[in-house]
Amino acid sequence: MRVIVAGSSGLIGSSLVVELRKAGHEVLRLVRRAPAAADERRWNPPAGSIDPDALAGVDAVVNLCGAGVADRRWTEARKQVLRDSRSVPTEVLAAAVAEHGIPVLVNGSAVGFYGDGGDRMLTESERSGDGFLAMLCREWEAATEPASAAGARVVLLRTGLVLSPGGGLLGPLRSLFSLLLGGRLSDGQQYWPWISLTDELAAIRFCLENDGVSGPVNLSGPVPVTNREFTKAFADSLGRPAPWVIPGFALHLVFGAELAEEAMLTGQRAVPKALENAGFSFTHGTVQLALAALR
Ligand SMILES: NC(=O)c1ccc[n+]([C@@H]2O[C@H](COP(=O)([O-])OP(=O)(O)OC[C@H]3O[C@@H](n4cnc5c(N)ncnc54)[C@H](OP(=O)(O)O)[C@@H]3O)[C@@H](O)[C@H]2O)c1
Repeated sequence: MRVIVAGSSGLIGSSLVVELRKAGHEVLRLVRRAPAAADERRWNPPAGSIDPDALAGVDAVVNLCGAGVADRRWTEARKQVLRDSRSVPTEVLAAAVAEHGIPVLVNGSAVGFYGDGGDRMLTESERSGDGFLAMLCREWEAATEPASAAGARVVLLRTGLVLSPGGGLLGPLRSLFSLLLGGRLSDGQQYWPWISLTDELAAIRFCLENDGVSGPVNLSGPVPVTNREFTKAFADSLGRPAPWVIPGFALHLVFGAELAEEAMLTGQRAVPKALENAGFSFTHGTVQLALAALR
C-alpha cells in the first residue's frame, strides 16, 4: 500500500513509518515545515492546505497528530491547543480523503474517550464518558465524519498508555523508580490500559491491512491492570522497590486538579475486543511481558 502518515515525528508515528516500510509498504510523511527528504510532503493544518501532489495514488492516510496531553498543566489556553491540534488536522485530512477518494483513514484517538470507567470492562461499544479528555476524543473522532460519509473505511484508534523504550510515560517513571521514589498513585485502584509499542505498531498495521476492520478499536493489552499492579510490575522489572504512595493532593498540586484526576487518578479498564474479534494476536499479552521486553 502507499500510505501517508501525519504526526510521523512522534513516538508512535516515527516507529510506525519504520514498521510499515519493513512490511513492504511505501510510506510518505506529512510535515508541517519545508520538506527536507524525498518522502516528505508539506501540509499546514491551520491553513487547511496539503501539497497538491501529496495524495496522488495514496491508498491510506494514518493520522497520529496531537500536542502532548500530559506535557503541561491544563490552562484554558492549553486545552484549546490540545483540541485544535487534533480536530483541525483531522478535519483537513478527512476532507482530503473524501475529495481524493482515498479508501482508508486510520485516525488516532484514545481510551480517554470513555472517561472514568471505574472497574467496568470497556469494549468499543461503551458510550463516551465525562470530562475534558472524553470530550477531546469525541471531537477528534467526529472530525473524521466527512471521510466516512464519502465511503472511506475509517478506523478510530483508541490507544492506551504506550509502553516504549524511547520515551512516553516510562521515561519520567523510570527516573523516579531508579531514585527509589516509585510508588502507586493514591489507592492505585484506577485502571491503566497499557499496550506495548510493538503491539501498538502491529495493531495499526493490522487495521490498515484488514478491510474488515472499521470504527473504534481499543489499542490496549488484553489484560488491563490497576495502577497498583502496574507499579509493582514496573518496580519488579527494574529490580527496585516502590514503597511509596503518592497522594492525590500532591498530584493536584504538581499537575493541576483536572489533569491529575483525568490522566492519573482515574482510568479505563479497556479491553481490545474489536482487535481480538478480528483475529489480532498480541506479542505482549501481559504487562509483565511488555515491561520485560523493554529491559
Ligand atoms: N503515546 C501514548 O501513550 C498515547 C496514548 C493515547 C493516545 N495517544 C495519541 O496518539 C497520537 C500519537 O501519539 P504519540 O505518543 O506519537 O505523540 P507525540 O510523540 O506527542 O507526537 C505527536 C505528533 O503530533 C504532531 N503535532 C504536535 N503538535 C501538533 C499541532 N499543534 N498540530 C498538528 N500536529 C501536531 C507532531 O508531528 P509532526 O511534527 O510530524 O507534525 C508530533 O510528533 C497523539 O494524538 C496522542 O495523543 C498516544
